[in-house]
Amino acid sequence: MVTNSQSQYYQQHKQSITAPELFWRHQAEQLNWYKTPNSIVQQQDANHYQWFTDGVLNTAYLALDYHIEQGRGEQTALIYDSPVTNTKQQFSYLQLRDDVARFAGVLKALGVSKGDRVVIYMPMIPQAAIAMLAVARLGAVHSVVFGGFSAHELALRIDDAKPKVVVSASCGIEISKLIAYKPLLDDAIVKAEHKPERCVIFQRPQLPAPMQNGRDLDWQLAMAKAAPAACEPVKATDPLYVLYTSGTTGKPKGVVRDNGGHAVALNYSMQAVYNAKAGDVFWAASDVGWVVGHSYIVYGPLIAGCTTILYEGKPVFTPDAGAFWRVCAEHKVNILFAAPTAFRAIRKEDPDAALQQYDLSALRSIFMAGERLDPATYHWVSDKLAKPVIDHWWQTETGWPIAANPAGIELMPAKPGSSTVPVPGFNIHILNDNGQAVKANEQGYIALQLPLPPGCLTTIWGNDERYVDGYLSTFPGYYASGDGGYIDEDGYLFVMGRTDDVINVAGHRLSTGEMEQIVSSHPAIAECCVIGINEPIKGQQPLALVLIKNGIDVDETILEAELVAMVRQEIGALACFKKAVIVKRLPKTRSGKILRKLLRQIADGSQYTVPSTIDDPASLPEIAQLMTDRGVISQT
Ligand code: COA
Ligand code: AMP
Repeated sequence: MVTNSQSQYYQQHKQSITAPELFWRHQAEQLNWYKTPNSIVQQQDANHYQWFTDGVLNTAYLALDYHIEQGRGEQTALIYDSPVTNTKQQFSYLQLRDDVARFAGVLKALGVSKGDRVVIYMPMIPQAAIAMLAVARLGAVHSVVFGGFSAHELALRIDDAKPKVVVSASCGIEISKLIAYKPLLDDAIVKAEHKPERCVIFQRPQLPAPMQNGRDLDWQLAMAKAAPAACEPVKATDPLYVLYTSGTTGKPKGVVRDNGGHAVALNYSMQAVYNAKAGDVFWAASDVGWVVGHSYIVYGPLIAGCTTILYEGKPVFTPDAGAFWRVCAEHKVNILFAAPTAFRAIRKEDPDAALQQYDLSALRSIFMAGERLDPATYHWVSDKLAKPVIDHWWQTETGWPIAANPAGIELMPAKPGSSTVPVPGFNIHILNDNGQAVKANEQGYIALQLPLPPGCLTTIWGNDERYVDGYLSTFPGYYASGDGGYIDEDGYLFVMGRTDDVINVAGHRLSTGEMEQIVSSHPAIAECCVIGINEPIKGQQPLALVLIKNGIDVDETILEAELVAMVRQEIGALACFKKAVIVKRLPKTRSGKILRKLLRQIADGSQYTVPSTIDDPASLPEIAQLMTDRGVISQT
């Protein structure tokens, strides 16, 4: 690594790898545990490690009560800014703690206790964060499901997490339309085998929902009667939450996050990566349904004593492409975190940033993640704002950044296209198919040497085998990230994209395997393949290539509309599944494997080499022609 060996960053990273006990003991001591851990990291077996096993804490206490004890009770903890409802609301640490304690009382009265699961299916309203923190206060386990998911996806998660209670709201509000959440919840409960005992529903005036007698409880009425509940001490290794993410199959994976490692890692990242201090205003323009929302709308900023912003709106059309700048100026945001797709959307609507007429003097830096930050977007934001733009790479599984420009340690010169250097705690290697390290600038699989630092997933909920098989078996001793890329001669990491069948649409992680399952269930389809192709704003979009069963005659437009409706119904509108092309054959290897990468290259109009293992080379020009006819190639 060329980064200066005398540099602060180099020293910290080296210590975190060569002396992890020393490094993480020091970080653990920054928190106010009920019992400070003596044991730092313990290896269980070849694949499992546990952090801070004898530590006892409560994450909601660290996020709220602790700050009140430190005299920050009157400081604003959370600002709700909702252009879609024309609402702005501020909660001090005291107010937020009181609401959280009261909602914990509601849940406690419904029988929720340590270890019980609570599913939260909510739009971006403060009650979503209050529900998460209330669950944490009781030592129970939350599982937040992104509001854009369908009833089917919600049912899958209910069946896996088996919640005692579901917390939801009557509706969400998208750009100029209401999304009725409650019917989706009712439908999910009908579909699921596991039936939650009770549902707590936050009724929104925009679209109140009918309640089911005996099962549903009105949030406001329950809060009015509830007695506040105290913080329940939990072991560091007890789970705080389960968050489902897309894998390569149709069944989402429940990433399990523990309490202790999570709190230590987030607190460290707020200082080292984001350079955030107590009192700073931190805005992660994401959704609580995603890991960014868990880590940097709710837990990270609050554990660090910052003011967090919960924004119910979009970067564009609510009301215009100046929305981000308005929020930053109005709330004096110091650190902004968003997905590149958001800035691409702003740039499309307002290429000269003419709507950026606000005072952004408080803004220190802009962080981006969720997908690759393309150099064009990097340059546009850097030029228009004249502030450091920091690309950082992470995953639902890690819960915090793996690679970043560590603003709180020292800011390195940025290289567009690179998420800079490994964050202390992460030991990044680039491996080839045989698990051997490749040379600088050579592409390979990005793997993280075990143990993973605190805060990363400890297992997959109810399926440790899937954890070991999915992440730890490919390269023994390493976590296989599923991303490919390279490290250059200066030690900078370039993440180039997934090496599996996961795609990234508008910063949302989706499984093409799951879409294939849905598409192939259509009675006319004999075989199909779904790939992610380039899309100028959302980064990628899914494209289905389908083979029709012999003897069936279908109209391509009607079939496409039916497939689009099926994917919307089964996954949700967020899949942005809009295109299906009928083909006569799919290019395969002689062993029968569909050549997906080749199909992606054809669709993206990139150069490709025809592999020697291809069974039927004539299928390629034929598919390219069909894609051109359907406007797939020319639109990218
Ligand atoms: N609840 C219900 N439906 C939702 C939803 C939610 N929380 N979020 C999205 N949807 C729906 C949208 O209404 C849309 O439906 P439609 O097809 O009927 O119009 C569909 O899902 C696709 O939504 P989206 O991808 O958000 O597209 P968009 O055109 O509405 O907005 C962007 C485009 C770029 C502005 C938007 O995707 C965006 O802000 N992206 C940033 C994402 C982000 O922050 N990701 C965080 C990961 S770090
Ligand atoms: P998620 O688990 O939804 O956060 O998605 C994680 C995936 O998003 C990663 O595996 C990457 O493929 C992609 N990703 C996230 N951040 C970046 C980044 N900064 N650069 C490139 N890809 C990224």
